[in-house]
Amino acid sequence: MNGIKLLILSCLLAVAVSGAVSAGSDRNEPIQAIPVSSGYNKAKVELGKKLFFEPRLSKSGFISCNSCHNLATGGADNLPSSIGHKWQLGPINSPTVLNATFNIAQFWDGRAKDLKDQAGGPIANPGEMASSHEAAVSMLQSIPEYVRSFNEVYQVDKINIEQVTDAIAAFEETLTTPNSKFDKWLKGDDSAISEEEKAGYNLFVDKGCIACHNGVGVGGGSYQKFGIAKPYKKDTKTLGRYNVTKKEEDKYVFKVPLLRNIELTAPYFHDASTWDLAEAVTIMAEYQLGEKLSNDDVKKIVAFLKTLTGEQPSITYPVLPPSTIKTPKPNQN
Ligand code: HEC
Ligand code: HEC
Repeated sequence: MNGIKLLILSCLLAVAVSGAVSAGSDRNEPIQAIPVSSGYNKAKVELGKKLFFEPRLSKSGFISCNSCHNLATGGADNLPSSIGHKWQLGPINSPTVLNATFNIAQFWDGRAKDLKDQAGGPIANPGEMASSHEAAVSMLQSIPEYVRSFNEVYQVDKINIEQVTDAIAAFEETLTTPNSKFDKWLKGDDSAISEEEKAGYNLFVDKGCIACHNGVGVGGGSYQKFGIAKPYKKDTKTLGRYNVTKKEEDKYVFKVPLLRNIELTAPYFHDASTWDLAEAVTIMAEYQLGEKLSNDDVKKIVAFLKTLTGEQPSITYPVLPPSTIKTPKPNQN
């Protein structure tokens, strides 16, 4: 062995040893474990939780954030496209709110810069909750218990929409799913995943899925064209990132979705073109990598993807304060 090789080897050893001491036994992989977070502002998160489950934020008094981002079903609605005000069908599949805090921006086209910016959208979207920011705030202001909670969290007597979206975002930040089998493996537990799941992860890396689906969220970190290797023709109406930038090269570019808890959030893709995770993997290989995977490889990758299901947030269903005589009445029209 020559000197340079020895030097490299000893450096690697030093890294391995210091790694073992400083960061536990975390593996050095392009995917990182979801941190187990704490130290939240409890009063703000509790208020945000109420607002997340609050149907009176909608014009009909019937639709809450949880209607389309059901925390009992992986933070999504498992529908091809969501049902909004007056049973209107939305134009796009609803992504999960779980781990959304790890996205570089929110929405398929990234038009909201963060969770707070996002939360104002659905309340006033005529096809979703169909209310307005003014109506939402006056509803809250008509309920003394809400006035007290906002006062406690924000030291104000008059509620505004900034505080509403801030509290919802604070709740959403707690909606992470740590301790998946894969994260246990990342933290050094060799027996946390099976041989097949491990083989699936190796394929995920070697075939190149990892180039787009990486980081803590296993996605959510960049915008990429859907149809790099071969044009995707099933949906050519949804333009993605182009809507934000108006650049020709951003047509059919979408935020790479998180693959955390992917087994819970069928149907897949922005146009919900498949309910089958194996088919989604096959489509990705074909359209993003220009490759035809064998059935056996697809099976292994799916087995790996299922190890990304983490501990779901345990939510105590909030009891919402009663309306008063001043609270605006539901309007179905
Ligand atoms: C009628 C169904 C519906 C309701 C109600 C709704 N959403 Fe959504 N939500 C969607 C759909 C559909 C999208 C994707 C829209 C897009 O990307 O253009 C989305 C996107 C999001 C995203 C972005 C996730 C990502 O990965 O980009 C977040 C976060 C979110 N919603 C939170 C909320 C909150 C908070 C509320 C309540 C204030 C709410 N939603 C109400 C359907 C809904
Ligand atoms: C060049 C970037 C890129 C590569 C490589 C890539 N993906 Fe994707 N992936 C995306 C984008 C962008 C989407 C969203 C497409 C859409 O719905 O518009 C996506 C969506 C998905 C979805 C559906 C997620 C959902 O919530 O609907 C799965 C599953 C998936 N990819 C798995 C894989 C696998 C497995 C591989 C490797 C075989 C792979 N991807 C390779 C960019 C990529």
